[in-house]
Amino acid sequence: MTSPTLTNTVLYLDGVSVTFDGFRAINKLSLAIAPGEMRAIIGPNGAGKTTMMDIITGKTRPDEGEVFFGGMIDLTMLDEAEIAALGIGRKFQKPTVFESHTVADNIRLALAGARSPFSALFGARNRIAEERIDTILSTVRLTEHRGRLAADLSHGQKQWLEIGMLLAQDPKLLLVDEPVAGMTDAETAETAHLLKEIAREHSVVVVEHDMAFVRDLGCKVTVLHEGSVLAEGSIDAVSANERVIEVYLGR
Ligand SMILES: Nc1ncnc2c1ncn2[C@@H]1O[C@H](COP(=O)(O)OP(=O)(O)OP(=O)(O)O)[C@@H](O)[C@H]1O
Ligand SMILES: [Mg+2]
Repeated sequence: MTSPTLTNTVLYLDGVSVTFDGFRAINKLSLAIAPGEMRAIIGPNGAGKTTMMDIITGKTRPDEGEVFFGGMIDLTMLDEAEIAALGIGRKFQKPTVFESHTVADNIRLALAGARSPFSALFGARNRIAEERIDTILSTVRLTEHRGRLAADLSHGQKQWLEIGMLLAQDPKLLLVDEPVAGMTDAETAETAHLLKEIAREHSVVVVEHDMAFVRDLGCKVTVLHEGSVLAEGSIDAVSANERVIEVYLGR
């Protein structure tokens, strides 16, 4: 396990396949994400984007192939809880916040749940924890909404709050599935800004269909199709790729 690609990666997949009832959803998928990198994953419905996240997070076991975190931790040997504890945070498409709690309390609960010095041991009024809540709320554009009930936030703000709850766990790698679906244009543009800020200190993998948003992210793009990588490169390069136009972007 000393290939040069493997040694400098936060995430490394090689030859990964998974079959559901005879249907090959992931087909010899290979992908490497560098530490600190942000990567956008695009591709048609059913391409295997969410299944890829299921494999990384231990929800689905691959039939074959390698999945390594941090260059040497074999994720195929671990369960979902162990993988989360390593520092892989996942944001599902639907926001799952505690609706009957305030915005700040949602972050506070996520901090208390994380194994960190801010845990319940120090009590909820811990000054460092409060500073950390402030920082996270500022990152996810919710400072002015900290006292509101989560139920009263817009759909986009709930998505941001959930990203904030992920940040409370200080993951090394964040997996974000279709964060801007259902957001207003202004929220979508703001989400690109905040993910770029988060990517300064974390590795981030973002699945999205919104091409204007993907362009705003300004990162390398991987195009999945039928469970494999169809193309990889800058947004301009993949947008000009004939095969990508054929299977995904249309003419
Ligand atoms: N647990 C499962 N059992 C059976 N089939 C599944 C399962 N999970 C995914 N699939 C199938 O695998 C294929 C890939 O699905 P996946 O959800 O990964 O696509 P996707 O790229 O995320 O698509 P979308 O853009 O629509 O979210 C689909 O054909 C889907 O029906
Ligand atoms: Mg999906």
